[in-house]
Amino acid sequence: MTAVTVRVPAKVNVQLAVGGRRPDGFHDLANVFLAVGLHDLVTAEPADELLITAAGRDVASVPLDATNLAARAAIALAKLHGVEPRVRLHIDKDIPVAGGMAGGSADAAGALLACDTLWGLGTPHDELLSLCAELGSDVPFSFVGGAALGVGRGELLTPLAVGGTFHWVFAAAPGGLSTPAVYRECDRLRREEGAGDTVAEVPAPAADPALLAALREGAAVALGAALANDLQPAALSLRPELRDTLAAGTAAGALAALVSGSGPTCAFLAPDAAAATRIAAELGPAARVAASPAPGATVLP
Ligand code: C5P
Repeated sequence: MTAVTVRVPAKVNVQLAVGGRRPDGFHDLANVFLAVGLHDLVTAEPADELLITAAGRDVASVPLDATNLAARAAIALAKLHGVEPRVRLHIDKDIPVAGGMAGGSADAAGALLACDTLWGLGTPHDELLSLCAELGSDVPFSFVGGAALGVGRGELLTPLAVGGTFHWVFAAAPGGLSTPAVYRECDRLRREEGAGDTVAEVPAPAADPALLAALREGAAVALGAALANDLQPAALSLRPELRDTLAAGTAAGALAALVSGSGPTCAFLAPDAAAATRIAAELGPAARVAASPAPGATVLP
């Protein structure tokens, strides 16, 4: 085999309920993931040693060393099978980097599937998902796509039914936000409010039944009313100008607006595809439209 290309989707969290900080530093979550039709492509080709290259959007901020999550995925898979990670990974980026849309996680999931296919390993699905979970909390979802409820630190997935197509607009913001910094700010704000930030002090996170019903029914208005992100106050505290972006999308006709994951990308739910195109045009050239749900990591023919 000469080259394998895998397509992987971005995600938006339609609900991100954040519980208390656990002793291991992670937070318990009820994380309702929806894969959206913005994609990275990860291509694996035989090489003498592990090599990473990248092209596309925001490519200057993609690390090209062993800290790249795609490189770590290739190394972890090779180690599991006792082989050397002799592969060139090329990442064609279209998902905003450090944007709260799981771009790095998508690349890890894509690299795992591309290397597994290139090397002819046939790793069982559940073993690939365990590797995904070791690589990062959002990587298992990037691998499976569709829609899912993630609990634990977000890695324990239950697939969710989606009864229609939802249309989104995404406004990427320059600079990116560090996920650990946003969680730290969430903890700080909770302590400042006197609520405390530990598992013992914060109510256990739970999925909202109204939101799950809206997904199941494909009901955009009801989904818009139920969108919720507990990390949003922290992202807005670190990047106050995002308030203006959220307001601009709502003024342009979005049903609802929220920060995507840990941000700084803002997500707008549109009533239909035509409205999404109109809202994106009003928000400017950095805005993108995408439909959901989208399939997970897929080997391209
Ligand atoms: O798992 P992942 O590497 O994506 O997590 C990045 C960082 O986000 C963690 O180091 C932690 O600071 C924060 N995080 C968290 N609770 C989660 C998931 C992520 O605190 N459930």
